[in-house]
Amino acid sequence: MTPRRHDIVRAVKRPVEIAPARGKLGVLLVGMGAVSTTFIAGTLLIRKGLAPPIGSLAEMGTVRLGKRNEGRSPRIKDFVPLASLDDLVFGAWDIFEDNGYEAAITAGVIEPELLKQIKPDLEAITPWPAVFDQRYVKRLMGTNVKTGPHKLDLAEQVRADIRSFKAERNVDRLVMVWCGSTEVFMTPSAAHESLEAFEAAMESNADEISSSMVYAYAALKEGIPYANAAPNLSADIPALNQLAVDNGSPVCGKDLKTGQTLIKTIVAPGLKARLIGVSGWYSTNILGNRDGEVLDDPESFRTKEESKKSVLDYILQPKLYPTLYGDVCHVVRINYYPPRGDDKEGWDNIDLVGWLGKKMQLKINFLCKDSILAAPIVLDLVLFLDLAHRAGMSGIQEWLSFYFKSPVHAPDLYPEHDLFIQLMKLKNTLRFMRGEELITHLGLEYYD
Ligand SMILES: NC(=O)c1ccc[n+]([C@@H]2O[C@H](COP(=O)([O-])OP(=O)(O)OC[C@H]3O[C@@H](n4cnc5c(N)ncnc54)[C@H](O)[C@@H]3O)[C@@H](O)[C@H]2O)c1
Repeated sequence: MTPRRHDIVRAVKRPVEIAPARGKLGVLLVGMGAVSTTFIAGTLLIRKGLAPPIGSLAEMGTVRLGKRNEGRSPRIKDFVPLASLDDLVFGAWDIFEDNGYEAAITAGVIEPELLKQIKPDLEAITPWPAVFDQRYVKRLMGTNVKTGPHKLDLAEQVRADIRSFKAERNVDRLVMVWCGSTEVFMTPSAAHESLEAFEAAMESNADEISSSMVYAYAALKEGIPYANAAPNLSADIPALNQLAVDNGSPVCGKDLKTGQTLIKTIVAPGLKARLIGVSGWYSTNILGNRDGEVLDDPESFRTKEESKKSVLDYILQPKLYPTLYGDVCHVVRINYYPPRGDDKEGWDNIDLVGWLGKKMQLKINFLCKDSILAAPIVLDLVLFLDLAHRAGMSGIQEWLSFYFKSPVHAPDLYPEHDLFIQLMKLKNTLRFMRGEELITHLGLEYYD
């Protein structure tokens, strides 16, 4: 009988076998908008020594090993065998024909002066025609789109793009990240229950199969890891989770935890830790990029809203603490406001309840750059998913919850949203992979 993973953790501290990161790692990006181009351009600039990888745990973070008095805190990239940034090769699909340089200029996140220094590399990325259907993203229309008799055929075309990219660019391994627009709100249905039902639905062009599902299916059929940076359902369905396990592909998602929700999952665990009550949490944003425009459509916004709203319930645990969090009025708004472009501004008003029921307020005004916060996450996901793949880990990677607003999780579990627990889970997974002691923070031994 194959031993279960938690039995292995208890029984032996033995490193997991991890294949070396030899050769080139192909990064397949679905959508070449603000997030993708900021990630690609940033990686190219870092590679040239023109910028530090700020925000990337994989590149800058450390991991403590052993006891606090041992002084062992290597950098994560020296502790686990990650791919080198020099070995990343980029490919993308988009409904617009703009090359990587033109798309980065349109996104308007990185200064043109800086982009000029990597112009040839960016120009070399010309997007493959996309699998796109406006029914799933109402505010967009483009011409660089594949045609075919049904969705299974479109998936075959995506697989053909992947195979020729791999051969032409001499790529050893691949990772796919959905950085496309947020699709309309969907819930899992019978077509998503099994691979047979899913493939039949693709062949009959069923509405239940969105464009992002076609890409996810293509990646998983090719045995490629898949991450979803947006909140749409995509691979978070039984059929594709099973395909991921069967084909040895690690998967993770959904919806990168950047701006307002990042701050929410930093502040809420703090309030909860001190048992400070919350009666209301009002969050509003202005955003003027293409993402903001897509989210202006109520059906795409609904997908985002569900994702953004779920975090508080799980962190505050109203069922366990009805007096403190039993009746939180949680409102989330996103307003499309073109003058701001990618410079998102978020306001949070938190109504608090303290000792003797006294009311207090906390206001947070975050002036952030949406894609600047997202790009290092995409880099980490690429590097960690590739690591997981080489370590033989497949299916849902809960240890990567750290990066997501709506972490995918096993059906019988609730998701972990507290950023600090998520970070501990991530670092303990790295320790586990290398056969190091997991850190519990008990610490009694220092006082024996
Ligand atoms: N920036 C952040 O901080 C952040 C955080 C969490 C999630 N996200 C999500 O990440 C996604 C990307 O964000 P962005 O700011 O880059 O948006 P964007 O609008 O700049 O880029 C999305 C790109 O995807 C393309 N696209 C849409 N559907 C496609 C398809 N079926 N195939 C290929 N290309 C397709 C669009 O043409 C566009 O170029 C969005 O869904 C957004 O909600 C972003």
